[in-house]
Amino acid sequence: MFFIDSYVDPTLLNFFYGLVTLFVVHYVIKFVRRVRALPPGPWGLPIVGYLPFIRQDECNHMTELAAKYGPVFSLKCGQFDVVVINQWKCIKEALANEHLLGRPKETILPGVIEHFSFVEMSGERWKEQRRVALTTLRDVGLGKSKMEDSVRDEIDSFTERIKSFEGKPISISNKLSLSISNNISTLVFGHTYAYDDPVALDMENMLVQANGMLRYFNVAIFMPSVASLILRLNLFGLSKFGDLFRKFESHINDEVIEHRKKDIDDNGIKDYIDGFLHEMSKRQNEKDSTFNVNTLQRNASMFYAAGSDTITTTLQWIIMYLVKYPEYQNKIRDEIKQTIGLNRQPENIDRQQMPFTMAFIYEALRHSSIIALNLARRALEDTKVGGYSIPKDSFVIFNFWSVHHDPNLWDNPELFKPERFLDEDKSKAIKPPYLVAFSGGKRVCPGESFAYLQIFLYLVSILQQFEISVESGKDISLERVQKFSIRPKILPDFIFTNID
Ligand code: HEM
Repeated sequence: MFFIDSYVDPTLLNFFYGLVTLFVVHYVIKFVRRVRALPPGPWGLPIVGYLPFIRQDECNHMTELAAKYGPVFSLKCGQFDVVVINQWKCIKEALANEHLLGRPKETILPGVIEHFSFVEMSGERWKEQRRVALTTLRDVGLGKSKMEDSVRDEIDSFTERIKSFEGKPISISNKLSLSISNNISTLVFGHTYAYDDPVALDMENMLVQANGMLRYFNVAIFMPSVASLILRLNLFGLSKFGDLFRKFESHINDEVIEHRKKDIDDNGIKDYIDGFLHEMSKRQNEKDSTFNVNTLQRNASMFYAAGSDTITTTLQWIIMYLVKYPEYQNKIRDEIKQTIGLNRQPENIDRQQMPFTMAFIYEALRHSSIIALNLARRALEDTKVGGYSIPKDSFVIFNFWSVHHDPNLWDNPELFKPERFLDEDKSKAIKPPYLVAFSGGKRVCPGESFAYLQIFLYLVSILQQFEISVESGKDISLERVQKFSIRPKILPDFIFTNID
């Protein structure tokens, strides 16, 4: 300091000190205001905030923090103030709060993904894209008997494939995912893929690898301004993900190109891409329309990814539970025998007379909670939940895990117990409002009924034809691994023995 004083004009120096003091005071006031406006929570480091302290079992960690700081707590994660909402009372209030319907301002993976799908949009753009997407999907078959027929056809191909292994132990994961992807593929692209089609294999490989690489509290998501640098320096596996993503998108792009060669009128709409292209041509004179090819490509990708990976993972868990608890496998098969029998293909309506099967499905969704932390939301205005303030533009996360594993709602929540969903005389399966596997409110998962349809039809069809087990001496571990979704840590090879 002495050295500087002797060489620099004192007025300039005083001006400089004044500026620094002003800057520090301004920063401190802003910091104190921010901290006071936010719910309580743990401290973090400058710049990265609490990110480096978040454990791999992120949902358990969030639930533990809620026990310490309260059901609505906050953390600084990279560039964002994050508010985590826990426990049913607060999550129920948050799901109904219109100010919490936004998504973060960046795409799901900044630096890798440039354009927005409706899953990442907020406000009027989101509302309009979602409305048109759901109308188009309904028009091309979602929720209709035609769709149910095509899922049953797909299940036939799947079970034939399983039979071809003649009871040898097999790895189920990609057989299941290639089959499940065909159901969403029918809606979005208008066709299925052969199980050995290199395009289908590429897309499924990308989804599996992406899920294995990306954790929920990902640096690129929470520090978007350095995402491009992270990508360039190939940190956190992001550049490998970028390569896989681009390959995936190029397949979707090929689909769009093929569809654009067709002449589509109102009657010629066969799938989601047709419907979007038709809407795009109707709106070609609209200013700033989001109905453009970039949005189409991203919407189609998101539907494909959301519609295949989630169901595949849920069915993987279901198979794990069936083998871990063979008594439930037998109980469901008994219910099948008493209702539809082993020969007739199941229909969605059969759910109504199969309470135990439905209770088992609800329990599988609760216990596995594959989407334990909701797709991030953003506060569109200053708002409150449970009496806690949530400032505008905070990142908002709903911790569904904390609801599904709350001992005040579920007796011994770590236990897998389908009976908890049955009424007293065991004649009805009852789904309480706090089973929120598909979220809730206006941004609820639009694939919920399609998901229930597939889970029910696959489960019943598989148990009509096979007894599932693992090699003797092998045990099933229900240990979980949490990345973007929660998966079984070890998925063993399963034996599917034909029931004749
Ligand atoms: C077991 C299966 C599934 C589970 C557990 C699941 C769960 C979820 C959850 C928790 C959300 C976040 C909603 C929110 O922000 O509050 C979501 C959103 C979404 N899901 Fe699903 N989902 C499943 C299957 C599907 C299927 C089959 C489709 C495709 C038809 C689908 C398409 C979507 C889309 C497009 C969104 C974003 C909605 C929006 O931002 O408006 N999901 N899902």
